[in-house]
Formats: sequence, C-alpha cells, structure tokens
Amino acid sequence: MTMLPCIPDPIRGRVHGKRAVVTGGASGIGRAIVETLVAQGAHVAIFDVSERDGRELADSLSTDDHTVTFHDVDVTVESSVRDAMAAVERDHGALEILVNNAGVSGPGEPTDSVDYAAWQNMMAVNVAGPFLCTKHAIPLLRRGRGGRSIIDICSIYGLIGNADAPSYHTSKGAIRLMAKTDAVTYAPEGIRVNAVCPGTIMTPLNMKKGKEHPGGLDAYLDAMRAQHPLGAVGDPIDIAFGVLYLASDESRFMTGTELIIDGGYTAQ
Ligand SMILES: NC(=O)c1ccc[n+]([C@@H]2O[C@H](COP(=O)([O-])OP(=O)(O)OC[C@H]3O[C@@H](n4cnc5c(N)ncnc54)[C@H](O)[C@@H]3O)[C@@H](O)[C@H]2O)c1
Repeated sequence: MTMLPCIPDPIRGRVHGKRAVVTGGASGIGRAIVETLVAQGAHVAIFDVSERDGRELADSLSTDDHTVTFHDVDVTVESSVRDAMAAVERDHGALEILVNNAGVSGPGEPTDSVDYAAWQNMMAVNVAGPFLCTKHAIPLLRRGRGGRSIIDICSIYGLIGNADAPSYHTSKGAIRLMAKTDAVTYAPEGIRVNAVCPGTIMTPLNMKKGKEHPGGLDAYLDAMRAQHPLGAVGDPIDIAFGVLYLASDESRFMTGTELIIDGGYTAQ
C-alpha cells in the first residue's frame, strides 16, 4: 500500500521547498510556470537554449529563500540533459517536480508536403526532449521528498486533429500517451505524471505562427478567438495555474490524466 503525501500548507506556499526543473522556462508558458512555482515556494532550475533570457529570469527571481538557476540545455541532446541533471543533483540532491514544457511549432504543410528534416527536428524537441528529461530526472525524483510530479505540456492538438500543422499534432499525441504510460509505470513509486493541454495561448511561439498566418497576426487572433467558445485566447499564466495544481500535493490522487485549459475549444 502506498501512502498519499500530506496536503500542502497554502500559507507557506503550495509547492514550498520543492525542487523543480522547468524546460523551456526562458519564454512564454515556461516562464510563467517558473515565476508561479517560485512565488509558491519552489526552487527552480531552468533548462533552455535561450541563454540570455533564461539567465536574466533566474537572476531576477533568485533570493535567499529560493534558488533559481539557469542551465544551458538543448533537450534534444542526451549529454546536455544528463550533465544538467547532474548539476541539479549537485545543487539540490534530488527533485520533486519536472515540467517538460520546451517545444516548437511544426511545419504547417500537409503530410505529403512536409520536409522530413523539419519533421525530425520538431519531433526531436517535442517528443525526444520530454523522453530524455524524464529519463534523466527519474533517479532524482526517486530520491525526492513527499509527492513527486511530472507535468508534460501537451496541447489540444494531442487530443484532436486539425489540418493546420499535422506533424505538430502528431508530436503532442505522442506526449499525451507518454504521460499516461509513465504514470502507470512510476505510480508504484509515488511519482505522478500528467499532461496539460493548452488551447491558444499568447506567447512568442504563437506570435510567430500568427505573423505567418494569411492576413497576419490580427487575422490569426480573430480566427483563434472565434474558435474558442469563451471568445478569447489564453495567457501563459492560465496554464501556469494548472501546472501549479499538478505540481503541488493538492493533486496527490491524480495521475495519468490530462488537464485541458482551452477556453472550451475541445468541448464543441
Ligand atoms: N502557445 C500556445 O498556444 C501553445 C498551445 C498548446 C501547447 N503549447 C506548448 O507549450 C509549450 C511552450 O510553448 P510556448 O508557446 O511558451 O513557446 P515559446 O516559444 O514562447 O517558448 C518555448 C521555449 O522552449 C525553448 N526551447 C525550444 N527548443 C528547445 C530545446 N531544444 N532545448 C531547450 N529549450 C528549448 C525556447 O528557447 C523557449 O524558451 C510547448 O511545448 C508548446 O508546444 C503552446
């Protein structure tokens, strides 16, 4: 029989004292996740290829109470992930939270027109990245205290299809099932694994996509708002609040599922 962890004391912080790795934490959704976890008491290691933004963020959030470090990591390169996890181990000894957030948008062409190298590049970041980070985080999570949680940032396009970027949706479908299988695999050790599925969130990734849209960013945003029943697109903090819940022991009885935060997009 496994004992569930104690529920957290919200006065001290919902993830007080937990040690976290957030990939892609220098920008967009990852940045909001880093800020939210730190505000709720966690120590955070940012893994990202964007060194300047990542270091600035880490320096701005680090205090005597919270360690926030930046690690120049390419999640597609196993030695890079392994070395950074070793540095986290030296700094903190163990981990309680891993957020696999780093991701790129994929080729926008239909399958019969997609360049294979572009497909492989996107799969490397969106699928191999979470695999490698999970692989090398598990030994540290095994030594963590209390509840341990992995959160894989998926997408509504891990749940449903759309003709706009088929290979990106394929990558997110893979991550959704990786979260479920890892959840079952590591449940006996008390390590929970869940996916978060955002709808359209205004981040640099989506601004780039919007600018390439026929009619430009405004036309893209109008089209996106119309597809979300709430009539709006989301902000990074909307996803960060969901991640905070899954990272904290408030969600101690939740594993192998997906938290959909999409303004009603997939309810239709
Ligand atoms: N923005 C959305 O609407 C939306 C919707 C659904 C899912 N998502 C997912 O959310 C996650 C974050 O997206 P975002 O919109 O914040 O994007 P973003 O481009 O703002 O941030 C992505 C971060 O990942 C980092 N990154 C990219 N490749 C990397 C690599 N190889 N190694 C390490 N870091 C790398 C980037 O440097 C950047 O800091 C992605 O997985 C994305 O697929 C986003």
